[in-house]
Amino acid sequence: MKFFADTAEIADIQELHDTGLLDGVTTNPSLIKKSGRDFMEVVKEITAICPGPVSAEVVALDHDGMMREAETLRKIADNIAIKVPLTIDGLKTCKALTGDGTMVNVTLCFSANQALLAAKAGATFISPFVGRHDDVGYPGIELIADIRMIYDNYDFATQILVASVRNPIHIHDSAKLGADVMTAPPSVIKQLFKHPLTDNGIAAFLKDWEATGQRI
Ligand code: G3P
Repeated sequence: MKFFADTAEIADIQELHDTGLLDGVTTNPSLIKKSGRDFMEVVKEITAICPGPVSAEVVALDHDGMMREAETLRKIADNIAIKVPLTIDGLKTCKALTGDGTMVNVTLCFSANQALLAAKAGATFISPFVGRHDDVGYPGIELIADIRMIYDNYDFATQILVASVRNPIHIHDSAKLGADVMTAPPSVIKQLFKHPLTDNGIAAFLKDWEATGQRI
């Protein structure tokens, strides 16, 4: 499973990159607003830190506008993935962009039928939003299971990029289902490392080691 950081905070991206475990970054207009940074500048900085796919989202709603914005965004760096919404114009743009080798991340996916359309449009990544599904009382993980089954039925190359991840359980369950990628806030990624029994074990080992009076 590839791990992407869902953020535009440079310090967090650098910290995760330095672990050697970061495979990509996703941003969206809300994360850019939260960063308080210039969109083009912060995305360029992110692409310089993380060599993996870095998603930058268009904000136009029409195909021509999306293509214009995509042209601007993909000039930032070779590892830019253009994020488009799951709409008719978004998938039309996806088809056009992937046709000439640009990575496309189709976002705001909330149904398996939408994901099926995105795969037919040649999407590099599909981003089903698990947390927002949970928010309205539908188990978002079931959406991941349905998409995985459908994609496997037809051997689609589109990678399932689980988004709107709110906790380690989303990651655990998505990995069990064989999702290709997950993108999560750095705080959630950091939770994955933690377990109280690991902390307890380290403390016990160090206490006993101190008692030996030895040094390495
Ligand atoms: O990449 C999509 C993600 O940022 C949405 O997360 O928590 O706003 O549903 P959330």
